[in-house]
Amino acid sequence: MSMQHPASARPMVAIVGATGAVGVDLIQCLAQRKFPLSDLKLLASARSAGRFMEFQGRQIPVEELTENSFEGVDIALFSAGSTISRRFAPAAVASAAVVIDNSSAFRLDAGVPLVVPEINPQAAFDHAGIIANPNCSTIISITPLWPIHRINPIRRLVVSTYQAASGAGAAAMDELRESTRAYLDNRLFEPRVLPHPYAFNAFSHNSDVDPQSGYNAEEIKIMRETRKIFGDETMRISATCVRIPVLRAHCISVHFECEAPISADEVSGILQGAAGVKVVDDRQRNYFPMPRDATGQDDLLVGRIRQDASDPTGRSVAMFVAGDQLLKGAALNAVQIAELLQAKSQVAAMA
Ligand SMILES: NC(=O)c1ccc[n+]([C@@H]2O[C@H](COP(=O)([O-])OP(=O)(O)OC[C@H]3O[C@@H](n4cnc5c(N)ncnc54)[C@H](OP(=O)(O)O)[C@@H]3O)[C@@H](O)[C@H]2O)c1
Repeated sequence: MSMQHPASARPMVAIVGATGAVGVDLIQCLAQRKFPLSDLKLLASARSAGRFMEFQGRQIPVEELTENSFEGVDIALFSAGSTISRRFAPAAVASAAVVIDNSSAFRLDAGVPLVVPEINPQAAFDHAGIIANPNCSTIISITPLWPIHRINPIRRLVVSTYQAASGAGAAAMDELRESTRAYLDNRLFEPRVLPHPYAFNAFSHNSDVDPQSGYNAEEIKIMRETRKIFGDETMRISATCVRIPVLRAHCISVHFECEAPISADEVSGILQGAAGVKVVDDRQRNYFPMPRDATGQDDLLVGRIRQDASDPTGRSVAMFVAGDQLLKGAALNAVQIAELLQAKSQVAAMA
């Protein structure tokens, strides 16, 4: 199924959570990529109803999300947390909209495709009303790995994240700004959003820790989602997720072991032409991917590509990735999925 409503040249799009960190970037991505929509509906909580947000020079009112918000909507981009997705996505689907969901509510459900357009675009068409956008650290870790995996399957993967405030929403970004000011002014600051002092600190990811395995929910998402997207339940994966005081781009140290020997040069060559990836790997100048450079960029920056010295078989490579997690990690990936649906519905309409 490509789109539930009869194929329309210009679908009506709704954003649920339009005022949030991801929502604001969804509006920008739709505008910058000139997504061919007929109208844009902005939905959020009652707190934001009546506020106006700009889209392509127009001021659009934010409306309160209700079960009746989806009449006439073709594509609903959900970005207001799992509870809201579970409660309102069924209403959107019942109204014949296709939901592209940024939350973790449905990602692992059978029958819900989990899509990174550079990896498994075809999966987007095999939906029953809901398509899930993967976790931001999953997308940033695995987009550069896919072209390698296709040539020389990856059997083992170890990732360590350095995650920005933006992954915890707009309020966490404010907390980083405010707590940094307070720290520099020698004022006390009581954390409200994150569990630990954020300025000049780093701490284990703020998601719940599974008491049995010791992995936190973010780490478990990366491990499970990667297997689902790659379609390989046998891949051995371990993740360590850490929050660092950076505003909006995640960094990830990635170590992978392939089935057959592979050199750092081969990996570099594969990544030079890979979709959604830019190699930044200047050993002479010690210039590698940084969150400052990744911020605002659609491409993921990949560098520090080197043979993993801990594997004498020559099958392992280490690298470092930086990606704007509000863009490729969330809003951009969701809009790319909407573009896939739109392109398919146009082809169907012409047939
Ligand atoms: N941040 C990321 O990079 C990222 C990446 C991937 C996925 N996600 C997922 O995307 C979702 C949103 O994340 P975010 O970072 O954008 O969060 P955020 O900045 O906290 O924004 C939350 C949004 O949800 C809306 N909302 C909250 N309660 C609502 C309600 N009862 N009814 C309608 N709208 C409601 C808020 O509206 P008000 O302004 O009216 O409160 C706001 O627009 C989460 O599921 C998150 O896990 C986030």
